[in-house]
Amino acid sequence: MLRCFLLLWILLRRADSFSVTVPSSPILVDRGATALLSCEFEPDPNISDLVITWQRQEDSRVVHSFYYERDQLERQSSEYLDRTKLNREGLAEGNASLSIVNIGLKDAGKYICLVSNNKGTDRGVVQLVYTAFYSEPRLSIHLQSTNVTVQYETEGYPRPEVMWLGSEGQNLTDDLEVSSASDGGLYYLKSSYITQNPVFSVTFTLKNPATHQELQRHVNLSYDGNTSSSQSVVVLSVLCVLLLCSTVLLLWLYCRDRNPR
Ligand SMILES: *[C@@H]1O[C@H](CO)[C@@H](O)[C@H](O)[C@H]1NC(C)=O
Ligand SMILES: *[C@@H]1O[C@H](CO)[C@@H](O)[C@H](O)[C@H]1NC(C)=O
Ligand SMILES: *[C@@H]1O[C@H](CO)[C@@H](O)[C@H](O)[C@H]1NC(C)=O
Ligand SMILES: *[C@@H]1O[C@H](CO)[C@@H](O)[C@H](O)[C@H]1NC(C)=O
Ligand SMILES: *[C@@H]1O[C@H](CO)[C@@H](O)[C@H](O)[C@H]1NC(C)=O
Repeated sequence: MLRCFLLLWILLRRADSFSVTVPSSPILVDRGATALLSCEFEPDPNISDLVITWQRQEDSRVVHSFYYERDQLERQSSEYLDRTKLNREGLAEGNASLSIVNIGLKDAGKYICLVSNNKGTDRGVVQLVYTAFYSEPRLSIHLQSTNVTVQYETEGYPRPEVMWLGSEGQNLTDDLEVSSASDGGLYYLKSSYITQNPVFSVTFTLKNPATHQELQRHVNLSYDGNTSSSQSVVVLSVLCVLLLCSTVLLLWLYCRDRNPR
């Protein structure tokens, strides 16, 4: 009986002592960057029994595996071909961190780090979040007979918060179009502000909460309407003076004809 408990205690201790440590919060990786998925374990200097398997949690696709003291990539999913790397020196020190180059939208998800050695077996899950900074928004202004349209276009990921603000900070958001992410892993965003007033000051704001990116672009449009109206005032005044002069002249001629001396 005592031996049985002792065995159980040893087994539990053994299971307890070996553990894999992964970051508890998701890691954010920008488009095209290299992701470092951290995974640490209780090391054993003899790596002949070490087995490391990195897998996607969603569909068990193999991302990278290592056993018999070398990388074993026969079962590696083709999407990860030539993109993954384990640090060979780190393995004896309990570092199974995996780097993946050229991160794209398809790489977003959960990764299982499964480690087994002389001391035990354990797993950890690392979550990778894909992000992309919004590019410098491209401005275009369309003038129509009655409307002015101010439009910005940009690409990034994920879906941002967009607002148009007036000069007093009022919400002028009108038209926002966000097309779903393309194969390139970017949302295409097109947003415009339409007004009938040819004089305005608006601010386009974009926030990407995932990357803490914030953009603000001001557009001030002024219309020097006074020039043309003052010109017409001058023309009108000249016309009035001419009309007055000719009336006076006609009147004078008429009066002279009526009262011949
Ligand atoms: C490492 O472990 C394996 C199997 O457990 C054993 O055969 C080998 O001799 C060990 N190597 C060293 C250097 O201890
Ligand atoms: C584990 O290895 C990676 C490189 O593969 C390195 O960047 C990281 O600092 C290492 N972690 C520790 C705790 O040494
Ligand atoms: C001006 O904008 C209004 C909506 O704000 C739209 O109904 C109208 O068709 C626009 N006019 C022109 C000339 O684009
Ligand atoms: C601004 O106005 C738009 C359209 O009316 C609305 O969808 C949006 O929620 C508003 N934003 C805020 C912060 O009030
Ligand atoms: C545009 O208008 C805003 C708000 O009225 C003002 O703060 C800013 O200085 C103006 N910018 C230019 C270039 O005139």
